[in-house]
Parts: sequence; C-alpha cells; structure tokens
Amino acid sequence: LSEQEKSALDAYEWSSKLFHHVLRFTAEGKNGLNYLENRGFKQGDIEQFQLGYSPNKDQFLSTFLHKKGFQLTNLLDVGLLSSRDGNTFFDRFKGRVIFPIQNHQGKVVGFGGRAIEDGVEPKYLNSPDSKLFQKGKLLYNFYEARKHFQKEKEVVLFEGYADVIKASQAGVYNSVATLGTSLTKYQASLLKRYVNRVVICFDGDKAGKDASHRAAQMLKDVELDVLVANVPYQLDPDDFIDTYGPEKFQNQVLRNAESYIAFALNYLKKDYNLQSKHDQLDYIEKALDLIATVDHAVERDVYIKELEETFDLYRETLENEIADRRRINQ
Ligand code: UTP
Ligand code: MN
Ligand code: MN
Ligand code: MN
Ligand code: MN
Repeated sequence: LSEQEKSALDAYEWSSKLFHHVLRFTAEGKNGLNYLENRGFKQGDIEQFQLGYSPNKDQFLSTFLHKKGFQLTNLLDVGLLSSRDGNTFFDRFKGRVIFPIQNHQGKVVGFGGRAIEDGVEPKYLNSPDSKLFQKGKLLYNFYEARKHFQKEKEVVLFEGYADVIKASQAGVYNSVATLGTSLTKYQASLLKRYVNRVVICFDGDKAGKDASHRAAQMLKDVELDVLVANVPYQLDPDDFIDTYGPEKFQNQVLRNAESYIAFALNYLKKDYNLQSKHDQLDYIEKALDLIATVDHAVERDVYIKELEETFDLYRETLENEIADRRRINQ
C-alpha cells in the first residue's frame, strides 16, 4: 500500500470509531440511535457491527480528522470527505447511519451510509470504489462469517446490510451480503474456497427474484450447491424478522429453502405464456435442460413428476428426453 492508502485506512478506522461513539454516547447521535432502535436493531447489534452515526453537520468529521493530522485531500478519493474547491472539506456521510464495511482482514475500508429520513436519495450512500474498497471483490460481514463456515460448510447470502444484522438475531452468523451490486464471479469463487453450499436469501420482490436467479447461476458455475429461500412477496429478510420474529425466520424461511432447480423451474415460467401451446413446448424444453443437469436420480424424478402432471405428458417421453440430454452432456 502507498502512504496515501495507509493513511486512508487509518482515517476509516478513526472515523468508524468516532461515529460509533457518537451514536452510542452523544446528543449528536440521538437521531441515529432512535432510528436504529425503531427499526428493531438491538444494543448488541450496534456493538457487534460497530454501527455509527455521522452527525448532520458539514464539518464534524473533517474537523476531527484535521486535528488528528490527516491530509484531508487524501481522503477525497476514498469518499470520506468531499470538496468543491479542493480547499474546504465536507463530511460526505453527514446525517446518515454508518454501516462500516470491513475487508477480509477485518480492516474498515468503506461505509454504507443509510439515510434516516424517508425519501432521501440515495437511500444508501456507499464509499466509492478505490484500491482499498472494491465492491465486486468484498462481501459484507465476510471477515466474521468466515469463522462460522467450518461447521456447516454453508453460507447464507443476503442483499442488504440490515438483513445480515437481523439474521444474527436469529443466530445466523454464517452470513454475508453483496455491497449493492450483483454477485460477481470473483465473489462466487471466493465463497467456493470456504463452503460447499450457499443459501440465497434475497428480497421477496421481483428485483430480488431476478437477482437470485443471476446469483444462483454464478454460484452453480463454480460448482457450489445452491438453495434459494422463499421470502414472502413485499418483504425482505430484515422486515420478515421484525414482523414474524427470528424463530419463524429460521423455521419458515431458511429451513424451507428450495433447491436451485426447483426455484429455476418456477422462476423461468415468467418468460412464457403457459396458456399457449407453443410457449408450453419452449418452457418444457428449457425445463428438461435444467432437470438433465441434476445428478441425483431421485431428485430428477421429483421434477419429472411435476412436469408430467402440470402439462399432462407421458412420463416415458420425459425420461427419454432427459436420458438423451444426459448422454450428450457427458
Ligand atoms: P434494499 O433496497 O433492499 O435495502 O437494497 P435494504 O438493505 O432492505 O435497506 P433498508 O432495510 O431499507 O435499510 C439492498 C442493498 O442494496 C444497496 C445496499 O447495500 C443495500 O443494503 N443499496 C440500496 C445501495 O447501495 N444504495 C441504495 O440506494 C439502495
Ligand atoms: Mn462500542
Ligand atoms: Mn430490494
Ligand atoms: Mn431489502
Ligand atoms: Mn430492508
């Protein structure tokens, strides 16, 4: 690392500690603390994830860092401060709750800053990509989650910071989240080094389903087992835990996660008008392709049976089609 990058790392560490202190112990942090408490975050969550608050002042952090002897110009590129003229420096995260993001060595390298009032855009302001902070290479909570990968060889993948934190209320510690971008091949390969199975637990809306399908394919490509949890429509894991509690999250959402194939067979239906014979045939072709990739005969059987019943087909035809495909795939 260059001197400038080392200094930026240092500044992130100080800023993170300052914002955490502000949130916990000061009048300036009251709005942030109220916000988090109203959303069901607990004192323990605030500690464990070192949540903080950047006071709603233009130069709270910049004054602090200046006094600490930092070269403030060095902190523009990493997104801690902003400046119009290059001489005066402003707090970039002001008025936001801070979710510190650690790199995989446990060092704070970025922030997700959550607006505490409705309608503020963006809802989350994130640190920009830099040499220290690459959203496509890092995963939120990876440094902690890694300690829990051994036991189950499994990770739960979420969309949001809030989901990871609420999941820890349900005792789910082997969890990570992407940083507001789609899962990358790099991240999939990284997980592959530590676990055998990924449970995708994204939001229950259309965007969440689309992202689940994309992530699942990325994870299948590196030969991970993939399960997809069923989060009810219009909720996300964090809302679900607030509404129904951590036990139901375990028992109804995570435990009922379905296999990638079961998820995909259902998800792909949206691309077809299944009232039309022509579309039905296209869908069935696609479904057969998917089912043929399953190595367990019993599991294949379950999906074949479903196709047989849904479309009133001959089982033998389906089985032959799949056998053909499996021969070709070999
Ligand atoms: P969501 O919109 O699902 O947010 O985006 P959330 O995590 O449920 O947020 P809360 O519960 O309302 O606080 C999921 C993730 O996408 C990124 C963030 O990483 C967020 O956690 N995101 C979202 C952004 O980077 N910017 C945004 O403006 C919104
Ligand atoms: Mn503390
Ligand atoms: Mn969403
Ligand atoms: Mn969400
Ligand atoms: Mn949420």
